[in-house]
Amino acid sequence: MHAAAIVAAAGSGSRLGADRPKALVLLAGRPLVAWAVEGLLVGGVADVVVTVPAIERAAFAAVLPSTVRIVDGGDTRTASVRAGLAALPREADVVLVHDAARPLTPPDVVARVLGALTAGAQAVVPVLPVVDTTILVADDGTIAEAVPRAPLRRVQTPQGFDRGTLAAAYAALPVGTELTDDAAVVRAAGVPVVTVPGDERSAKVTVPHDLTLAELAVTLDGS
Ligand code: CTP
Ligand code: MG
Repeated sequence: MHAAAIVAAAGSGSRLGADRPKALVLLAGRPLVAWAVEGLLVGGVADVVVTVPAIERAAFAAVLPSTVRIVDGGDTRTASVRAGLAALPREADVVLVHDAARPLTPPDVVARVLGALTAGAQAVVPVLPVVDTTILVADDGTIAEAVPRAPLRRVQTPQGFDRGTLAAAYAALPVGTELTDDAAVVRAAGVPVVTVPGDERSAKVTVPHDLTLAELAVTLDGS
């Protein structure tokens, strides 16, 4: 098995509100994207393609290992992953798709995703249980109903795929259909998606508080 990864890093990070694209924001002195790429390589991925905002190519090249392939992303995450797919090395037969916004994904999670692919899964996502009471609200903001939470899961990345399966699913997805993750793309093509345990440390950096927590996690890890 030859595993390659696409790291989606072309977003602006509007909710984080930093002075640069989110993937270049520093966590303990290193850009988020550099953390994310390292976790994938340590976890067993051989090649990495990073999709970046076109005008920031040089800034990304300056902070990533020279073996990483940098390609221009698109206006949406779906478009960025499409661009990454087109730039995968020929020999890759499985593909992990990861968010640069998840800098502290433990290599163990990467290894679990790869393990499920080795065992024959066409598509695999890391998940965590939902810990809060979860509700549906009506238009007026009142509770319409409570959702039984036992079967609910929060979905993380990296998500892993048989390469041909993922490529065919993206090819079948109408251009302009935007989905928030890659499991949704293969599910739209009728592909079953298996789950493996995720990790709280894989949390996505979305708002400033998430970065505060990530800084704390790095500090505590190293102390
Ligand atoms: N992403 C991407 N291309 C886009 C939009 C998002 O590659 N056009 C990537 C982001 O860089 C991020 C991942 O998809 O690593 C998850 O997206 P999100 O957390 O929403 O990041 P942003 O879109 O950058 O943030 P925001 O939605 O707050 O602007
Ligand atoms: Mg976004």
